[in-house]
Amino acid sequence: MALDGNYFIDACYGRNRSVIPVWIMRQAGRYLPEYRAVRERVSFSQLCRSPRLIAEVVRQPVERFGLDAAILFSDILTMLEPMGVSVTFQEGGPVIDPPISSPDDVRRLSGFDVKSGLSFVLDAIGEIKKSLPDKPLIGFAGSPFTLACYLIEGHGSRHFNKAKSFLNRYPEASQDLINLLTEVAGRYLYAQIKAGADAVQLFQSWDGILSQEDYKQWSAQPANSIFSHLAATGVPKILFVNNIAPYLSIVKDIDCEVVGIDYRIGLSQAGAALPGKSLQGNLDPAVLLGSPNQVAEETRRVLDGFEHHDRLIFNLGHGILPGTPVESVQTMVDVVHGYRT
Ligand code: CP3
Repeated sequence: MALDGNYFIDACYGRNRSVIPVWIMRQAGRYLPEYRAVRERVSFSQLCRSPRLIAEVVRQPVERFGLDAAILFSDILTMLEPMGVSVTFQEGGPVIDPPISSPDDVRRLSGFDVKSGLSFVLDAIGEIKKSLPDKPLIGFAGSPFTLACYLIEGHGSRHFNKAKSFLNRYPEASQDLINLLTEVAGRYLYAQIKAGADAVQLFQSWDGILSQEDYKQWSAQPANSIFSHLAATGVPKILFVNNIAPYLSIVKDIDCEVVGIDYRIGLSQAGAALPGKSLQGNLDPAVLLGSPNQVAEETRRVLDGFEHHDRLIFNLGHGILPGTPVESVQTMVDVVHGYRT
């Protein structure tokens, strides 16, 4: 493999003896002036379809802060468009119109060939690898349940009650929907790896609203099925679960190397419940809105709180907030890099 011996990859496998690697969920985005400058020229949708501009915004935070991994610039909802779904990215967030409201709507969705339906994503991965050949590149997809939440609700929501009631009203159509999204996400991630991604992350951003029993059916099973599709590629698989605490005993058995932990629980507690897994996390993104001293102190507190530094990838416990000062990000990165000397 091209990145043999890289310390981010080593940390994924729990064998890192070098500095602790750090990257940031949503590291390319509106808090960065150079990203905003690109966005003044093109819309988010245009940006997501331009391999050259994608490579540019992927490189921005990696070079500015000295981050240890790059992440593909795209959106979890991009995968839905070739399935016949209309997604628009508006000021207040993404909108799906019309949303799914019946089993017939589920039947109208279609699988697609990733190479033709999302060629611009695969081309972008090629561009990124050309511009950052030595940085591990993380590909990603949204979890089937998180994608179903947006498909059924039509937009973001606090509780996704419409999505949850759809599961209960139409259990068969729900299973068909989750199965289809699982199958497409598996093929999509596989294609990203073949195009050059060095690791992949599955975002379970909204799965954390489920009961434990529902999590098994709608989240854990699909994640295992997606990851089993990738097993032969030999690249590390990262599962990020927002609000992971209720599901630790289930996640323990999911076939992945790294688990992304949200900011609500301590890494030591998560680590004890996830033997053998590497951890990724988990500074509260809101800390970066505080003073430089607080940022440094809280970053150290997270690092002190988990003794297995061979299997730690430092990150935020969820996406970086718009309005985050770039100086705070640099302080955090410098503290992480200076910690293990
Ligand atoms: O740097 C990166 O992490 C890569 C790019 C990335 C984006 N979206 C770009 C984006 C990634 C990994 C995502 C994932 C994503 N998208 C998730 C899962 C991650 C999470 O936070 O749990 C979700 C739920 C979405 C859906 C989505 N897309 C929302 C809710 C929004 C609006 C809110 C927001 O964060 O701005 C988007 C738009 C979006 N996706 C932007 C970016 C940079 C903002 C677009 C802009 O105005 O330029």
